[in-house]
Amino acid sequence: MNKWDKIFESDPQYKPLNEIFLSKLLEKIKTEVGQEPKTMVDLGCGTARTIFQFAERGFNVTGIDFSKIALKKLQQKIDESNFQNIILIDNDLDNITIRLNADIFLCNFVYSFINNKKVFLRKISEFMIDTSVFILITPVTYKYINYIESDKPSIAVDYEETLDILKSIFSSVEDYHHDYISIREDYVTFLVKKIVKI
Ligand SMILES: C[S@@+](CC[C@H](N)C(=O)[O-])C[C@H]1O[C@@H](n2cnc3c(N)ncnc32)[C@H](O)[C@@H]1O
Repeated sequence: MNKWDKIFESDPQYKPLNEIFLSKLLEKIKTEVGQEPKTMVDLGCGTARTIFQFAERGFNVTGIDFSKIALKKLQQKIDESNFQNIILIDNDLDNITIRLNADIFLCNFVYSFINNKKVFLRKISEFMIDTSVFILITPVTYKYINYIESDKPSIAVDYEETLDILKSIFSSVEDYHHDYISIREDYVTFLVKKIVKI
């Protein structure tokens, strides 16, 4: 049983994506890529409602996580639903052992837990084709802000470092959206496209 299995035993309720935000984002991706995205891989899906938000929009969705408890609970929800377009895979994002294909790779509230971020991002870049988009949503900290304990910066990553790593691997990195979830907490969505440097 890993740390996340223990967390999922207590049924944490992580937020779904904001519906308006998601619709606008998908419209933007469709316009920029020039075709309708149809497949999505949720990297570190947990028991998230995110999967269902994409499945409801007709996507074929693959959820990946290494918490067997999360996957079991999510599979129960899928079985109770009418969705035929969701599959779940047990895999460690620190050592992905399968080949993934998708129009959209989503990593929501997971990136800070990845041990070797460069290895992880390079792997995602290998899976992407020219029309794939990687949506990275993560809490961030900024070097110039003095955080206090209640800010919980431990689940966030440094904004500048993250941008630098992304730019060193991918050719197109857009700081698409900021959500200000508390006085000093910032939740950023990076939109990452097209790989030229690996
Ligand atoms: C805060 S939860 C977010 C879950 C989901 N993305 C959401 O938005 O509701 C973090 C998730 O990342 C998963 N995770 C963390 N490290 C992982 C790893 N190395 N491999 C696979 N999953 C991982 C955990 O099991 C957990 O489901």
